[in-house]
Amino acid sequence: MKGFVNIVVICAILICSRVPEAQVTNLTFPENFTLGSATSSYQIEGAWNISDKGENIWDWWTHNYPENIADGSNGDIACNSYYNYKEDVQILKDIGFDFYRFSISWSRVLPNGFANEISEEGIQYYKNLTEELLANDIEPVVSIYHWDHPLILEELGGWTNELMVEWFADYARVIFEELGPLVKTFITINEPSVYCSNGYNSTRHSPGKILENMGHYICIHNTLKAHATVYHMYNDEFRSEQQGQIGLTTACDGWFSNDDSNATLINQAFQFNCGWVAHPLFVGDYPEILKTRIAMISELEGYPFSRLPEFSDEWVEYINGTADFFGLNHYTSYVVSADPDEESGIYNIDSGIIKSVNTSYPHGSLSWMYDTPEGFGNLLRMIRDEYDNPPVHVYENGYCDLGELNDYARITYYNGYMTELLSVIQNDSCNVVRYTAWSLLDNFEWSDGYTVNFGIVSVNFTDPDRARSSKLSTSWWKSVMQTRTVQDVPTSV
Ligand SMILES: *[C@@H]1O[C@H](CO)[C@@H](O)[C@H](O)[C@H]1NC(C)=O
Ligand SMILES: *[C@@H]1O[C@H](CO)[C@@H](O)[C@H](O)[C@H]1NC(C)=O
Ligand SMILES: *[C@@H]1O[C@H](CO)[C@@H](O)[C@H](O)[C@H]1NC(C)=O
Ligand SMILES: *[C@@H]1O[C@H](CO)[C@@H](O)[C@H](O)[C@H]1NC(C)=O
Ligand SMILES: *[C@@H]1O[C@H](CO)[C@@H](O)[C@H](O)[C@H]1NC(C)=O
Ligand SMILES: *[C@@H]1O[C@H](CO)[C@@H](O)[C@H](O)[C@H]1NC(C)=O
Ligand SMILES: *[C@@H]1O[C@H](CO)[C@@H](O)[C@H](O)[C@H]1NC(C)=O
Ligand SMILES: *[C@@H]1O[C@H](CO)[C@@H](O)[C@H](O)[C@H]1NC(C)=O
Ligand SMILES: *[C@@H]1O[C@H](CO)[C@@H](O)[C@H](O)[C@H]1NC(C)=O
Ligand SMILES: *[C@@H]1O[C@H](CO)[C@@H](O)[C@H](O)[C@H]1NC(C)=O
Repeated sequence: MKGFVNIVVICAILICSRVPEAQVTNLTFPENFTLGSATSSYQIEGAWNISDKGENIWDWWTHNYPENIADGSNGDIACNSYYNYKEDVQILKDIGFDFYRFSISWSRVLPNGFANEISEEGIQYYKNLTEELLANDIEPVVSIYHWDHPLILEELGGWTNELMVEWFADYARVIFEELGPLVKTFITINEPSVYCSNGYNSTRHSPGKILENMGHYICIHNTLKAHATVYHMYNDEFRSEQQGQIGLTTACDGWFSNDDSNATLINQAFQFNCGWVAHPLFVGDYPEILKTRIAMISELEGYPFSRLPEFSDEWVEYINGTADFFGLNHYTSYVVSADPDEESGIYNIDSGIIKSVNTSYPHGSLSWMYDTPEGFGNLLRMIRDEYDNPPVHVYENGYCDLGELNDYARITYYNGYMTELLSVIQNDSCNVVRYTAWSLLDNFEWSDGYTVNFGIVSVNFTDPDRARSSKLSTSWWKSVMQTRTVQDVPTSV
């Protein structure tokens, strides 16, 4: 799950022009479409200091700066999934999911951060989990990195140090060697734009470094190099034997234009959000609008270079095409408008786009979380057009509330978004082939701690065993999986 960087301006006066709701005639998922659920290591595992596990940047951040977490909490125990993984797998099986997306804790596998020492017990945990999934006919989908890198690497600069490219590749090789024979889908890295912005241009996420309004650009730059290096390594050393697929997941919002806006403005918002990461992978290099605007603003600010680093031609080519699928994480949509200050030559933000929300949509327990399914359709059509209709794997989509067991609002959200998804497949020829509910469990939601809940299964965080219990959405999802058809929202329990 993601946290948002931009301040949401509540702007109720904007009028949205929106695509009318598509008439869906068939709510059954196509043959071969797969459905699953997802979690990440730091958010659920706990066992933060078990055996020889090293300290990671989220252990360090939550222990030293609890004031940056809404309830001062941490992931020391979280859902205790390090011990409860067999129960988690039974829950997945009971609901009937086709696959489970989980992530590997880098510091659990490589306690020093580097590949000179592999933790036997650490890697065994992931082998156990993978084997348990396979024994229950659930496909393991592995995210190699979901934000929790070893602290020592951060002390050496983390994602702002280009050597991270090699350290990440060494780590990924260990994962391919150890788990690759059993895993057919790998996600290298989760949501670069989110951890780079929240962690290297704000104190919202660890490591909480604010670096001259350019740390986030350098972080993405090195992240893209790291991803591409690992993609090529998989191709050259593992693909022929392991026969898997590999890509990354990128966070993309949906967009509505207001009255005085236009397609150019929507495209600008899309490029600064989704295109920042996706364009180098699917088209080659950063989007032109990022290169020209950031270079121009950097010059006005007196820098002798652009705050957006440049890729050499070799890197542009090396990164281009390094994705077997478009891994999409999506939650909500915004209304876009142009920053009015720019007319007088004042550049407040590199994108020049002001994001706001249409408050007439229902919303969840986080300020940015609006239930806007039509925006999902708009986004999927943009991905189709911009990147030549790649196979899209939706790897995160979900709704946050305050932990209600009768979670009608969550079911309404899933019903709306999955209906929209089927509509763009059937009516707009969008090539979406996978969908993932975030999240299987209520869990540690980064800077929001345990104050908001995304799970389709409830976890009792005051119980030492972290007992799980069903919500209304648990049984709703079970019916979806049994019928492979989007179900109506129930009207009473
Ligand atoms: C917001 O969305 C609603 C519901 O889809 C739509 O009818 C309306 O035009 C929009 N309102 C504003 C103020 O943007
Ligand atoms: C479905 O697609 C057709 C052809 O692209 C288009 O004319 C029509 O408006 C679409 N209908 C809906 C309900 O989106
Ligand atoms: C609906 O879609 C499913 C899956 O593609 C298909 O098997 C079924 O025949 C379709 N039903 C109708 C009424 O078109
Ligand atoms: C589904 O997958 C099977 C096995 O790969 C393939 O034979 C079949 O043609 C696929 N069906 C569709 C509708 O793509
Ligand atoms: C591990 O951390 C817990 C706090 O979560 C602490 O109580 C315990 O002593 C630590 N164990 C070791 C071996 O350091
Ligand atoms: C892995 O499974 C084995 C056999 O059930 C068990 O003995 C071991 O403790 C497990 N290791 C981890 C780290 O979960
Ligand atoms: C980075 O932080 C600066 C200073 O807070 C802010 O002006 C800028 O919009 C941020 N950039 C991004 C991409 O979030
Ligand atoms: C559309 O938006 C772009 C970007 O802000 C602006 O340059 C252009 O003038 C706008 N066009 C119209 C017709 O409003
Ligand atoms: C990226 O790869 C595509 C497909 O091979 C190619 O058409 C495109 O020109 C490449 N982009 C760049 C910037 O080289
Ligand atoms: C959660 O666990 C605590 C401690 O075991 C227990 O007292 C409490 O009743 C549980 N809460 C719920 C809602 O089951």
